[in-house]
Amino acid sequence: MVCLGNICRSPIAEGVLKNKIVEHGLNWVVDSAGTESYHVGEAPHHFSQKVCLAHGIDISGQRARQFVNEDFVRFDKIYAFAGDVLNEIKEIGGRYPPMGKVDYFLNELNPGSNQSVPDPYYGTESGYVTVYKLIDATCDAIIKKYKQ
Ligand code: 4NP
Repeated sequence: MVCLGNICRSPIAEGVLKNKIVEHGLNWVVDSAGTESYHVGEAPHHFSQKVCLAHGIDISGQRARQFVNEDFVRFDKIYAFAGDVLNEIKEIGGRYPPMGKVDYFLNELNPGSNQSVPDPYYGTESGYVTVYKLIDATCDAIIKKYKQ
């Protein structure tokens, strides 16, 4: 789960998908990262924590990290939360990144749409609620598609 800062959108997705993984008894490994380094080491945004906790999901222990080339090896799927993020993922991947592993996160909800999850960082709390709902629906689609 990769966004820009790894403090607003992708931490919600990490928390939500991990929660569903437990509910469905799966053994998937999920992590999140940001393509930028501004917020490395920080806990998720207050409103991201708040909306998750309202749904029984505690993401307070997460810490922001930057996406690294090695993530292409560690993970089978890499979800970009926006177009600029997807471009930066490609850049961090170096010369021949396996871009077949990378897709827009929202393509799991609306295939082929190449939509970005709106960036709530400069907005109000309601933006985080909107983003949570989108992420929750998309994580349901991911579970349905990949659960064996
Ligand atoms: P995120 O949100 O990518 O969902 O974590 C943002 C966090 C920080 C910034 C932009 C977006 N920023 O410009 O610092």
